[in-house]
Amino acid sequence: MSTSSTEKHVSSRGCLKSRRSRIIAGLVVFVVILAAVIPPVVVTTLRKKHNSMGPKSKVFVPLYVYPAPGAWSPLEDVVSSHPDVNFTVVINPGNGPGPDSLPDANYTREIPKLASHANVRLLGYVHTTYAQRNISLLRKDIETYAAWPKVSSNPDLAVRGIFFDETPQQYSDNAVAYLQNLTDFTRGLNGLGSDPFIVHNPGAIPDSRYLPSADSTVVFEETYNTFQTRNGANLFTAIPNSNRSQLCAVIHSVPNSVEGSKLRSLVKEARKVADELFITHLSTDYYASFGSQWSEFVDLMDK
Ligand SMILES: *[C@@H]1O[C@H](CO)[C@@H](O)[C@H](O)[C@H]1NC(C)=O
Ligand SMILES: *[C@@H]1O[C@H](CO)[C@@H](O)[C@H](O)[C@H]1NC(C)=O
Ligand SMILES: *[C@@H]1O[C@H](CO)[C@@H](O)[C@H](O)[C@H]1NC(C)=O
Ligand SMILES: *[C@@H]1O[C@H](CO)[C@@H](O)[C@H](O)[C@H]1NC(C)=O
Ligand SMILES: *[C@@H]1O[C@H](CO)[C@@H](O)[C@H](O)[C@H]1NC(C)=O
Repeated sequence: MSTSSTEKHVSSRGCLKSRRSRIIAGLVVFVVILAAVIPPVVVTTLRKKHNSMGPKSKVFVPLYVYPAPGAWSPLEDVVSSHPDVNFTVVINPGNGPGPDSLPDANYTREIPKLASHANVRLLGYVHTTYAQRNISLLRKDIETYAAWPKVSSNPDLAVRGIFFDETPQQYSDNAVAYLQNLTDFTRGLNGLGSDPFIVHNPGAIPDSRYLPSADSTVVFEETYNTFQTRNGANLFTAIPNSNRSQLCAVIHSVPNSVEGSKLRSLVKEARKVADELFITHLSTDYYASFGSQWSEFVDLMDK
């Protein structure tokens, strides 16, 4: 509006206008243009600063929730409403895939619904008992997961990687060979997607020689208080040859008072160090249901 009135003012003087008035008119146009351009720039910069949550991380969900009708809805809801957030979701039908070639009807109904979302990667749970478990049994469990789409004739009844629980922290040649064997085996199977994702869970920082055999390693599975006393952001700088893209953190028992800006700070700190992240206010059975600030946590992961 102010620009067009200036043009009118300039043209009304026509060729009679003096050199000085032309300069003044030019200055007015310049100032008007500046006034139009500067505020959006300032606002954008402020908004960016205000929202700067650092690098994005994926939401990691140990979904040890039985899929009774509606029980997975809190997850379905945030997956649908946050298409720009990626979710890595561990399912665990029976301390592994369970004894049968397919899990029960509640699982076979709910898994394809979750798996059909582009921003969800499902992982099948197995445990290694600190690399002591009979490796043939593990390979059998992984084969069971990989066969789900074929056995069910449903390509969406599928996982796209394996979560290995109870992996060792202390180095041993045997354990490294054991885990590498399982990684090679998993990556070589059909039925686990084009690029099976492998997560190890030692629950704490393991010997760094274990890191290359997984895509991601859970290096922290502890309470909020432990995260605070170990100084959050500096927690993992001690891990040799690692970077955040290989690390996953699980922070549970977050006090209810940590909400709003305090929860925001916690998520921001954790995102600095881990590419996969789960934060819950539950302090018992933290993977068996969704905590009080579940959707707030996911909102913060979208910023
Ligand atoms: C599915 O879950 C419901 C609720 O827990 C249960 O009653 C039902 O028996 C389950 N169905 C199967 C096939 O296990
Ligand atoms: C989410 O996943 C998509 C598809 O794999 C990928 O292109 C995108 O970069 C991922 N985003 C984040 C924040 O991880
Ligand atoms: C491991 O399990 C397989 C299959 O059940 C069995 O044949 C084998 O004897 C077991 N190995 C050990 C060392 O227990
Ligand atoms: C992996 O383990 C299986 C079962 O023990 C064994 O047959 C196979 O030779 C191992 N492969 C490698 C590369 O170590
Ligand atoms: C971090 O790790 C990823 C995956 O292993 C690798 O592709 C990337 O090059 C690493 N980045 C740095 C800075 O080391």
